[in-house]
Amino acid sequence: MRILVIGSGAREHALVWKIAQSKLVDKIFCAPGNGGIGQIAECIDIKAEDVFGLLEFARKEKIDLTVVGPEVALSLGIVDEFEKAGLKIFGPNKLAANLEASKVFSKELMAKYKVPTAGFKIFDNADEAKKYIEKIGAPCVVKADGLAAGKGVVVAKYVDEAKYAVTSMMEDKIFGDAGKKIIIEECLIGQEASILVITDSKEVVALASAQDHKRVFDNDQGPNTGGMGAYSPALVVTAELLKEIMQKIVYRTIDGLVKEGIDYRGVLYAGVMLTKEGPKTLEFNVRFGDPETQVILPRLKSDLVEVMLAATEAKLSKVKTLEWDSRACICVVCASAGYPGSYPKDKEISGLDQVAKLDDVVVFHAGTRRVGDKTLTSGGRVLGVTGLGATIKEAMNKTYEAVGKINFEGIHYRKDIGNKALL
Ligand code: AMP
Ligand code: GLY
Repeated sequence: MRILVIGSGAREHALVWKIAQSKLVDKIFCAPGNGGIGQIAECIDIKAEDVFGLLEFARKEKIDLTVVGPEVALSLGIVDEFEKAGLKIFGPNKLAANLEASKVFSKELMAKYKVPTAGFKIFDNADEAKKYIEKIGAPCVVKADGLAAGKGVVVAKYVDEAKYAVTSMMEDKIFGDAGKKIIIEECLIGQEASILVITDSKEVVALASAQDHKRVFDNDQGPNTGGMGAYSPALVVTAELLKEIMQKIVYRTIDGLVKEGIDYRGVLYAGVMLTKEGPKTLEFNVRFGDPETQVILPRLKSDLVEVMLAATEAKLSKVKTLEWDSRACICVVCASAGYPGSYPKDKEISGLDQVAKLDDVVVFHAGTRRVGDKTLTSGGRVLGVTGLGATIKEAMNKTYEAVGKINFEGIHYRKDIGNKALL
């Protein structure tokens, strides 16, 4: 088979790396890819949002299956366009992608189908939203309705902070139309876990659980980022909790979508807060998580292409259960100086050759590019150094040993990825 992967992050590197292990696959393209992906697939200079450029390419190159990494292409309807052209593509269509692209849609669906989530109220008027914040007090959470590159959520400790978030989103329009409507919701307390499944609306196949680390500094301090690291399995998700999450969150949501006439095929990712009253949904994503994918796929023994193809063809019942490596996996993200703010680029990365010699360690590239035989930084998150070990502690030791060998000017990373699992 000829496969096209869309995206340019470490998640897409992990996807390409796993897809390359499939016996079904002869050739992999990635658009636009990055410095690491280019070593195992052919990178094509087409942006992930260029739906028709990608369609043209897939037709010309006779791509058998396209796999979409980032959410923007899905929300633009790339799946609908490929299907119209008779091409197979793994991911939800535009209507289904609303589960991530519109938090209003997602919250209303959850309310209608009794999917546990934080209490909320929707606003399209800034003054009313601010009055409501004064009434309920802080802490509370302010969310822009639309896609905001992971920056559209403010967990406010103070009333003024929450009101300022409303001003920025609705009056200053920092996220454009994504902030036309906002949600104000109850602040939940607990540990977070990411539960990803692959579904074709009839069958659901669960992937291994994972825990993300969104804040930039150790002990969850500092601003939110695209994710500074992850580990799998998320030990807080006991078998009993997983059953509850599947029943009350995953199945109810998929059934709800079906009742609304929406066919969901692809990855469904539930961000869950494990509260004292039970698991509650923080958000849905309609794609593989980043950096969760980097710790889930190294543990997957089954052929990912087979599963994605079956979901795309609505034949997921053919896939029984997935086989997993019982070892733990952790991923530590090495970021550029200044990230998640502005950062310099083109810093030479050293140590990758040494790390390549280590067993059970793989480095997934995010913001890198190759120039001659050098690898240079080209983004905020640069590398996802990933290691497997018999326990989380062993996986941590192995991964941090590898991280210690890598360097570039201004490198920073969290030193506590995995610690929560040791408590
Ligand atoms: P979201 O994009 O909705 O997942 O939000 C990003 C992050 O904000 C989540 O991973 C949580 O850490 C935090 N968050 C979102 N909603 C809530 C909530 N209702 N209570 C507490 N934290 C939240
Ligand atoms: N790990 C968070 C995300 O993929 O959105």
